[in-house]
Amino acid sequence: MLLKLLNLRFKYGYRFLSRLLIRDDVLFLNYGYEESPPMALPLAASDEPDRFPIQLYHRTATQVDLAGKKVLEVSCGHGGGASYLMRTLRPACYTGLDLNTVGIEFCQQRHKLPGLNFVAGNAESLPFPDRSFDAVINVEAAINYQNVPKFFAEVERVLRTGGHFLYADIRYADEIAAWETDLANVPMRRVSEQTINAEVMRGLEKNRFFDQITRRLPNIALLRGIADDYAGGRGSLIYRRLENGEASYRLFCFAKD
Ligand SMILES: C[S@@+](CC[C@H](N)C(=O)[O-])C[C@H]1O[C@@H](n2cnc3c(N)ncnc32)[C@H](O)[C@@H]1O
Repeated sequence: MLLKLLNLRFKYGYRFLSRLLIRDDVLFLNYGYEESPPMALPLAASDEPDRFPIQLYHRTATQVDLAGKKVLEVSCGHGGGASYLMRTLRPACYTGLDLNTVGIEFCQQRHKLPGLNFVAGNAESLPFPDRSFDAVINVEAAINYQNVPKFFAEVERVLRTGGHFLYADIRYADEIAAWETDLANVPMRRVSEQTINAEVMRGLEKNRFFDQITRRLPNIALLRGIADDYAGGRGSLIYRRLENGEASYRLFCFAKD
């Protein structure tokens, strides 16, 4: 929502944001996730500062077993999730794609692992042949797309039969009805759906994402005011919207039968 208000939804907005954040080696651009009791996911010391965004990736990706699979992540951002999942879930190979070329260039330099690669591309027109992947992952990104049904159709096209679409996303009150129509028309079987507002609110309480953004945001009163409103924690606008049901954050698994 911060990105929406700042008009950072599209290509150039994310490039601008990436230029600011890669100076601080920011690897994740999501709100974070925590359960009750805490997940207590064992993490390498170097991953610990990003525990809450990592937990969102972990919960999304572990809906199926990715070991030995060919995985595509659409909208990989700064690649922190791609790197973590490649190291811990051992897919055969993992491709991260994003529209933001500044982010992709950062990923190519920052995350060098065998089997992990990054490409620039659009979620609505994926640059891969039909039936190329066993799983497609998408975390807190499709809200930005201009044509979400086109994205869902592209996911179905690039998945092989038996493949899975692992999807976490948010919508605000005025967008939920349209999202539900789009979800009802996804050309794959919905295996599971879970509302994770409470878990994302816990993530927001602990995540350092907004501190990272506000530290680098230009000191323009309007921008700082908006950033402060969204700066995580219990008092922020996004937190209150998740709390009172004006926003819905959901986790899905779809299968291509
Ligand atoms: C909120 S960030 C989430 C990034 C990452 N999934 C994470 O959790 O750190 C949303 C991402 O969607 C990307 N994006 C926006 N529109 C896109 C499109 N049409 N195709 C591919 N990526 C897009 C942005 O560049 C940005 O990296």
